[in-house]
Order: sequence, then structure tokens, then C-alpha cells
Amino acid sequence: MATYFALKHLHILTAIISVSLFVLRYWWQYRESTLSNKRWVRIVPHINDTLLLGSGIALVMMTHFYPFTPQGTWLTEKLFGVIIYIVLGFIVLGRRPRSQQVRLFAFLLALVVLYIIVKLATTKIPLLGFV
Ligand code: HEM
Repeated sequence: MATYFALKHLHILTAIISVSLFVLRYWWQYRESTLSNKRWVRIVPHINDTLLLGSGIALVMMTHFYPFTPQGTWLTEKLFGVIIYIVLGFIVLGRRPRSQQVRLFAFLLALVVLYIIVKLATTKIPLLGFV
């Protein structure tokens, strides 16, 4: 039980750090701040997101909520949300030249997707109901 709570706390903490770094990095690239290109700014999010993913997988093992099963429909939807969030992250923060309008649109969309991810995680009620 203690391991479960430790993992869950780690998962929630890394989720908060992930969102905070995402917002900060968007802001820095929008302001064309040199902070965007700092080495730690490129490395820390990867370490954090690896911990987020790792703790997520460990929680799946411990809770037995499996995607693509009737009890895990919320998780299936959440994982699709995570994939969409990652793709939007590439559009927002990627090095390819893109207009600020496209980046802003993708950023706002990513925040909506994040809201849905957290809503699914906390309520465990699927939105669409597919398996
Ligand atoms: C952007 C990425 C993610 C965010 C923001 C996020 C957020 C959260 C939050 C806030 C909770 C706690 C819900 C509560 O209060 O009960 C949670 C629970 C959970 N997450 Fe994630 N998560 C993410 C990625 C993942 C991934 C990739 C996996 C699986 C591979 C995963 C698996 C789980 C599981 C199984 C729980 C349920 C734990 C429980 O309630 O006992 N999460 N997630």
C-alpha cells in the first residue's frame, strides 16, 4: 500500500511538473528567450516525462486498470489523450519553423487535452465509452 501511495504521489508530482514546464517552455519560446535553448531546459522535461510514464505503467500494474478492457475504458481514452498531448507538444515546442498563430492554437488545444486527461484520471468515467 505504501508503494502504491508513493507511486501515485510521484505520478501526480511529475504530472504537475510536466504541465508547468510545458507552459514555461511555451512562454520562453514565445518571448524568444534564450532560456529555451539552455541544456537543462531540453533535458529535465525528458527525465520528468520518463518518470511520469514509468509511474503510470507501475500504477497500471498495481491497480489492474488495463486499457482496452471494460474497467479500463477511461484509461484507454486517457492514453489516447496523452498521445495527442505529445503530438501537440511537438507542434508547440518543435524546432521546425511554424507561425506563432499555429503554435498558440496547438498550445491552447494541448491545455484542453490536459484538462480532459486529468478529468478522466480523477473521475475514471469515460467520455466516449468505446473499449
Ligand atoms: C500527461 C500525462 C499524464 C497526466 C497529466 C496524468 C495525470 C494523472 C493524475 C492527476 C492521476 C491521479 C488521479 C486521482 O486523483 O485519482 C493519475 C492516475 C493514474 N494514471 Fe496518469 N497521468 C498521465 C499519464 C499516464 C500514463 C502514460 C499512464 C499509464 C501508462 C497513466 C496511468 C495512470 C493510472 C493507472 C492512474 C490511476 C491510479 C489510481 O487512481 O489508483 N497515467 N494520472
